[in-house]
Amino acid sequence: MEVVETIEAVREQVTAARRKGRKIGLVPTMGAFHRGHISLIERAVKDCDFVVVSIFVNPTQFGPGEDFEKYPRSFDADLEICRETGVDLVFAPGTEQMYQTENLTWVNVEKLTDTLCGQFRPQHFRGVTTVCAKLFNIVQPDIAFFGQKDAQQAIVIKRMVADLNMPLKIIVCPTVREPDGLALSSRNQYLTEQQRKDATLIYKSLQECEKMIRAGITDTQKIVTQMRSILNQAPSIKIEYVGIVDAETLQHLDHITGKILAAVAVRIGPARLIDNILVDVSER
Ligand code: PAJ
Repeated sequence: MEVVETIEAVREQVTAARRKGRKIGLVPTMGAFHRGHISLIERAVKDCDFVVVSIFVNPTQFGPGEDFEKYPRSFDADLEICRETGVDLVFAPGTEQMYQTENLTWVNVEKLTDTLCGQFRPQHFRGVTTVCAKLFNIVQPDIAFFGQKDAQQAIVIKRMVADLNMPLKIIVCPTVREPDGLALSSRNQYLTEQQRKDATLIYKSLQECEKMIRAGITDTQKIVTQMRSILNQAPSIKIEYVGIVDAETLQHLDHITGKILAAVAVRIGPARLIDNILVDVSER
């Protein structure tokens, strides 16, 4: 496995791999790996012949006052995981490498970024789409792998790829959870023991949502109220949003119909945590 910091070195390696007819896979990450990241890397190793993992804490997707400086970094452990998992190339650029001059060109996906997290993190998705577009241009993968954990991010990236005719496929992998349901996140490290316990209410609220939908309840307001009351059982939890939206357009729904995405964002102590589930009632 090679570890490189420059765009030039990535291009060299990837060109050589492509010349050998290898299918190139890319897993974009910000490091601090947990089993969620590992599941993406394993899937890439399974589906592709040459796997590139990028590790870059992208400053342009963090807003003022967010946790960019404090974001967990565990580079050596991450490299070890890459080695064990069968990664071919790790791209770990510095900020000066990714943003060599003042960035004047941004990729902006409209509408899909106005809802859910977009309402609370105004420039976040612009940073994500721009860095992913850059990574796709640098690596030129056949497939890039993303997690369902960040459902809105995956949908926005897919739309960018479709709208701009980028020549790659996006594969979205299932959310990996702790045994008690909490979705794995690098930000779970910020939690105290009590906050960690309280955080299980996030997935509980999503399970309750699915249960109510399966029981035939279609009034989303009723479901959201119930989900909020579950989250409010822990005083440490500050709800940012509880949304029930169309899984493709991400627009708010008054009534459950078709494929829906139920998504939650909360603050617990210093951590902002998100989770979601997909429920399909189109065959009901
Ligand atoms: P990061 O938070 O490091 O996540 C990297 C990838 O891992 C994302 O596609 C994310 O959805 C996935 N992931 C995180 N937790 C997961 C879990 N519990 N189960 C399954 N997949 C999980 O997301 C980013 O980085 C950045 O925004 C990035 C796309 C790299 C752009 O900077």
